[in-house]
Amino acid sequence: MRTKLIAGNWKMHKTVSEAVALIDALYAALPTIASDREVVVCPTFTALSAVAARPRGAIGIGAQNVYPESHGAYTGEISPAMLVDIGCRYVIIGHSERRALFSESDAFIAKKAAAVLAAGMTPIVCVGETKQERESGRAEAVVLGQVAGSLAGLQDRLADVVIAYEPVWAIGTGLTATAADAQTMHAAIRAELRRIGGAAAERVRIQYGGSVKADNVDELMAQPDIDGALVGGAALVAEGFARIANYR
Ligand code: 13P
Repeated sequence: MRTKLIAGNWKMHKTVSEAVALIDALYAALPTIASDREVVVCPTFTALSAVAARPRGAIGIGAQNVYPESHGAYTGEISPAMLVDIGCRYVIIGHSERRALFSESDAFIAKKAAAVLAAGMTPIVCVGETKQERESGRAEAVVLGQVAGSLAGLQDRLADVVIAYEPVWAIGTGLTATAADAQTMHAAIRAELRRIGGAAAERVRIQYGGSVKADNVDELMAQPDIDGALVGGAALVAEGFARIANYR
């Protein structure tokens, strides 16, 4: 049994005081969490320590990015050890926004994943095809290529990695993959993970992301290879995110 992982990616939203208000409201809305799931929030870097310092029960903390070096002349970057220091346990890497806007390659993402694992945290490695790639019938090839490239060299650590399948055309658009289409891609990803790392693939959690909301989460989470959700917009409202975390 894989423990489901519901994570909120706050993206570039919330000042420190707004972020503190959101975690406080979320803790009030979600004082207990069922034992078959984990709930994590990923605020911006500026709000991370303030959010980590609030009472939050079992709600975990993740970052949205990291640089794969321990320290040094990397202006503007944050190291894995700095994230561990403030209580982070998860790091989102290779989000499609970073792949598109900051030209992050699979190879760079694999370096980040290795650095996150070496620091004792869990990388949430994002993959997903664009609308054009889906319409031209290349969705699966693109996604499986990203999975293999972003996990290069990590076959022995596979069980400690989380994958987030986020079709780019479903992010922030209100369009969601049907639960059946998402399941098909998740099963293909798991088959690729088996090819890479054998039996460890059964332990890898594969989240779905892209317009996850209260009214579609139950059906998505009922699929056999969907092991959680990476939630953007709907994670910015405490009651809505609590409802998602309380999926049936
Ligand atoms: P939305 O839930 O706003 O579509 O964003 C999904 C996402 O990109 C999470 O990382």
